[in-house]
Amino acid sequence: MIRIAHKLPNKILLSLCSQVNALPDCNMEPAQINQVHNVLTAFLLFSLANLGLSFPFEPQGGNRQWHMTSDVKQVAGKSYDYIIVGGGTCGCPLAATLSEKFSVLLIERGGSPYGNPLVIDRRYYGFPFIKTDKYMSVAQSFTSQDGVGNMRGRVLGGSSAINGGFYSRASEDFVCKAGWDKKLVREAYEWVESKVVFPPLFLSPWQSVAEFSLLEAGLLPYNGFSLEHVKGTKISGSVFDGFGKRHTSADLLNAGNPENLTVLLNATVKSIIFHHNSYMNKTRAKGIRFIQSNGTLDETHEAYIKKVQNSSTRGDVILAAGALGSPQLLLLSGIGPKEQLRKFNIPVVHDMKGVGQGMQDNPCIAVLVDSKPQNRLPDPPQIAGITDNFKIIVEASILPLSYNSSRVNVAAKIAMPTSKGMLELNSTDPRLNPSVRFNYLANDNDMDECIKMTKLLDRIARSKSIAYFLGESRQEKLTSTDVDLRNFCKKNVRTIYHYHGGCTVGSVVDEHYKVHGIKGLRILDGSTLTESPGTNPMATLLMLGRYQGLKILTERKEASDSNVKEHKK
Ligand SMILES: Cc1cc2nc3c(=O)[nH]c(=O)nc-3n(C[C@H](O)[C@H](O)[C@H](O)COP(=O)(O)OP(=O)(O)OC[C@H]3O[C@@H](n4cnc5c(N)ncnc54)[C@H](O)[C@@H]3O)c2cc1C
Ligand SMILES: *[C@@H]1O[C@H](CO)[C@@H](O)[C@H](O)[C@H]1NC(C)=O
Ligand SMILES: *[C@@H]1O[C@H](CO)[C@@H](O)[C@H](O)[C@H]1NC(C)=O
Ligand SMILES: *[C@@H]1O[C@H](CO)[C@@H](O)[C@H](O)[C@H]1NC(C)=O
Ligand SMILES: *[C@@H]1O[C@H](CO)[C@@H](O)[C@H](O)[C@H]1NC(C)=O
Ligand SMILES: *[C@@H]1O[C@H](CO)[C@@H](O)[C@H](O)[C@H]1NC(C)=O
Ligand SMILES: *[C@@H]1O[C@H](CO)[C@@H](O)[C@H](O)[C@H]1NC(C)=O
Ligand SMILES: *[C@@H]1O[C@H](CO)[C@@H](O)[C@H](O)[C@H]1NC(C)=O
Repeated sequence: MIRIAHKLPNKILLSLCSQVNALPDCNMEPAQINQVHNVLTAFLLFSLANLGLSFPFEPQGGNRQWHMTSDVKQVAGKSYDYIIVGGGTCGCPLAATLSEKFSVLLIERGGSPYGNPLVIDRRYYGFPFIKTDKYMSVAQSFTSQDGVGNMRGRVLGGSSAINGGFYSRASEDFVCKAGWDKKLVREAYEWVESKVVFPPLFLSPWQSVAEFSLLEAGLLPYNGFSLEHVKGTKISGSVFDGFGKRHTSADLLNAGNPENLTVLLNATVKSIIFHHNSYMNKTRAKGIRFIQSNGTLDETHEAYIKKVQNSSTRGDVILAAGALGSPQLLLLSGIGPKEQLRKFNIPVVHDMKGVGQGMQDNPCIAVLVDSKPQNRLPDPPQIAGITDNFKIIVEASILPLSYNSSRVNVAAKIAMPTSKGMLELNSTDPRLNPSVRFNYLANDNDMDECIKMTKLLDRIARSKSIAYFLGESRQEKLTSTDVDLRNFCKKNVRTIYHYHGGCTVGSVVDEHYKVHGIKGLRILDGSTLTESPGTNPMATLLMLGRYQGLKILTERKEASDSNVKEHKK
């Protein structure tokens, strides 16, 4: 069932919703599919007639009270309980949570998402990918050594400010394997959802057609609206609200304590500052070195972790710079494989083989179902088909090619690939991309899965629903033999942007996300994942920021309580 948000703009939408609600919500027999097609016809006529609808916009910036600056002087030389590097998907909820009890500096290399239509407006979904530049654009493009083009966010909100906005929780299995506290995980998801996640008011014409096509291809049962990771076809939540406005992770900062939260924008962290205690033979992170993102490399500034008197505990530097940014920063700071550090003349602080290892990107095949570019509005994914024992996930979208043309596509990803790659530095400039290789489809398992996935996509692409929507039917099969499909996969594999790894739990960080062998340094973002959670990772990374923030608050409270006891003795 689709939950209908409270603020319905008008009656037309209500009737659209009831059309969608008329969908059968259980296993469908082929005979039922014809019936579904009748509903589809009615629905499409209705919604196409109303495509011209536009929604009023809320004033930009919302009820922001926290302090955002790009004046380095306000931060340089100062001390904070926590310094969080990267104001992205995980970094923002973490900063908000820690600021409830401690002073927090959140430092982000990009600018503000507020007032930027490329970020905020659903109608411009995908526009940031059309034109990127080396140092400034909100999306930073990179090409992996595999030759596959890719993107990452460079703005407060991180990749949640440029992504498809599709919000879907991880499975209980994933939570269990991660060793997380189930109840706290649920609370953290709900905290996020109450602030930045919205059920669809109605499905766009293309999303409803895509949904029908998945059902036609047998991706059953139909689960209606669900945030859970369930087999079959479902409608999920989105960070785009009913007015088509995106709510990035930065909106979660509103839940923090504005008095103890400083957000420094347009500042790129260059390295971590360490203190080595030779008597104890221990190394501690005591601050960060940063530059203005538009400045020169040698004009550096510093910020420090506050020393707490009479306390055995103190805050941390926490890297939340993403799956590319966090391993890159460890390497630039002298933590990583020593051969690589020497190659770039970086003094070795801690020789650690795992840094940059275990890089994965879920292989994706996207089929363009239309025959040529047209000027349809961009349309981020809102439905997902989960099949083959959770190993294949299908989504559909309309992505712009230019400012007035777009292509309609159905895409599928391999949810649990086994091929792994690695990340290495390419430069000592923290603003430039490191070099990364994902080794897409290197393992036979992944290739077999890709062949299966392509056959499924072919069926979906040739479904009656899609032919009806496009007014053209696709006759030709993608390819026929498995050998052909193998080559097809090799040639057409691309990203669905769910890359992760590089500082994985167990290898680089422990289960508290503390870097092995270094005091006062944690990592919390997609680089710590060994597997992409749920259908799409954003929900779980937003949750993880909140979850670990709460864990740290509890840990500190317990430590200071026992400290007080010590003193009283
Ligand atoms: C185009 C695209 C579409 C996607 N679609 C979806 C989707 O629909 N649903 C979904 O669930 N997932 C989607 N994803 C994946 C999801 O968005 C990411 O997995 C997730 O946002 C990563 O979160 P993170 O916290 O690891 O990193 P990020 O959110 O990328 O945050 C890292 C932050 O650190 C900053 N940073 C990096 N280095 C430095 C430095 N040296 N100094 C200061 N700041 C630094 C960056 O600017 C960035 O803001 C998509 C991703 C992309 C790129
Ligand atoms: C800010 O954090 C400090 C800890 O560094 C705490 O003592 C102080 O009470 C907090 N201030 C506010 C206004 O919450
Ligand atoms: C950050 O840099 C961008 C690009 O140069 C600029 O447009 C923006 O105003 C800056 N942000 C702030 C808060 O100064
Ligand atoms: C210090 O600790 C590191 C491991 O953290 C170890 O490799 C090294 O041998 C130690 N040095 C001394 C002098 O004990
Ligand atoms: C860099 O950006 C800051 C503010 O974001 C601005 O004050 C400064 O003039 C810019 N410097 C250069 C060299 O463009
Ligand atoms: C720290 O401890 C010393 C001596 O035990 C005491 O004099 C001082 O007031 C304490 N400071 C704080 C901030 O608790
Ligand atoms: C987009 O604009 C260009 C130039 O104005 C035009 O040639 C092209 O046909 C347009 N494309 C679409 C799909 O409308
Ligand atoms: C950086 O990457 C480019 C392109 O892949 C490559 O040609 C170059 O050798 C790399 N440089 C270093 C120092 O790794």
